[in-house]
Amino acid sequence: MNLNSRVCEILEIEKPIVLAGMGGASCPALAAAVSNAGGLGVLGAAGCGPEQLRRWIRETRELTDKPFGVDTLLPASVRRANYDEMEGPTPADLLPERKDFAAEFMAKEGLDPVKVDPEERVERDGPPLFTAEFFEAQMEVIIQERVPVYASGLGNPGPWMTELRANGTKVMAVVGAVRHAIQVKSSGLDIIVAQGHDGGGHNSPVGTMALIPQVVDAVGDTPVLGAGGITDGRGVAAALMLGAEGVWVGSAFLASEEANIFDFQKQAIVDSTEEGTSVSRTVTGKPARIIRSKWTEHWVREDVDPLPMPYQGMVSGPVMAAANRDGRGDINPGFAGQGIGMIKAVRPAKEIFDELVYGAEQALSRTTNLLR
Ligand SMILES: Cc1cc2nc3c(=O)[nH]c(=O)nc-3n(C[C@H](O)[C@H](O)[C@H](O)COP(=O)(O)O)c2cc1C
Repeated sequence: MNLNSRVCEILEIEKPIVLAGMGGASCPALAAAVSNAGGLGVLGAAGCGPEQLRRWIRETRELTDKPFGVDTLLPASVRRANYDEMEGPTPADLLPERKDFAAEFMAKEGLDPVKVDPEERVERDGPPLFTAEFFEAQMEVIIQERVPVYASGLGNPGPWMTELRANGTKVMAVVGAVRHAIQVKSSGLDIIVAQGHDGGGHNSPVGTMALIPQVVDAVGDTPVLGAGGITDGRGVAAALMLGAEGVWVGSAFLASEEANIFDFQKQAIVDSTEEGTSVSRTVTGKPARIIRSKWTEHWVREDVDPLPMPYQGMVSGPVMAAANRDGRGDINPGFAGQGIGMIKAVRPAKEIFDELVYGAEQALSRTTNLLR
């Protein structure tokens, strides 16, 4: 018995299990550990400025000689939004008010703003975070560095396909709806990731179980990876049963020794149940599944609307930075999917990977016993 699919051939890997690009968390050590274990490690580079992204790619190459990927966001709404033409107050108009709202929350929670000594201030490299120029600067590095695999977490990599193809880069896109799957397929990419409502981070209104087969049916010959709530081998087997040819797994690898998140966030995952998350726009401005916290609940209770991306990040950024400095898992426990109730300990990524493979093989062989 050997878990294998077309995805292994396309990506040149042994097992069709891919580490989801999780912004900041899927760092070189974690991506390399998954690639070395026989899957595909994907760097969560969404928030990396261009020079940091280049360093991460080079660091990963030092840790593994196997293929790996890079995930960034290409949100169409950021490229298209022209708030000047909108009626009523623009997000920029509302920004000072929402910043005051955040400052009041910090005072109530006893969080002092993070003070940076001007002498020690490290300038962010590249254009302002999550602007169209920022996303474009990241793509330039991805093309210059000739990465083996590129994945767009939001949006359509279509405009960059010619250059990516010229480098031999394999291209994937994450979608949460059939119409998005059809859009990205028309760009001629290699693999589509269907990520359902159960998943951590930016996600779809459609549940994983319903989404995967509908995307599979819609995209014909293009292989699909299932994603969202897949946390053990049974979930891997289920995605394959639904027609996926592999999986894109995030939260299960968050509770790994290698993941680049705070220990208090890993503990929040271990402590959480299946009911512990909610979908909230309070961190990035786009709906994302997150472990419920005092910050997410404050917006609900006060009935205040978060701003769209990239503005909400300017509101939440100082709060998250102060929470991180003070180890406040009650304020920034982080993004995670609904499968985290299954996670009972922080373990090495290889152990998590091997168990996903073994569990899937066991579940699939049990399934054949159901046919009499
Ligand atoms: C902490 C965290 C950060 C994430 N950041 C990104 C990101 O930057 N880009 C992206 O495409 N998806 C991101 N996601 C979504 C994942 O790529 C993936 O689709 C999701 O984790 C799958 O669901 P699961 O967590 O239940 O396995 C993130 C998810 C988590 C949990």
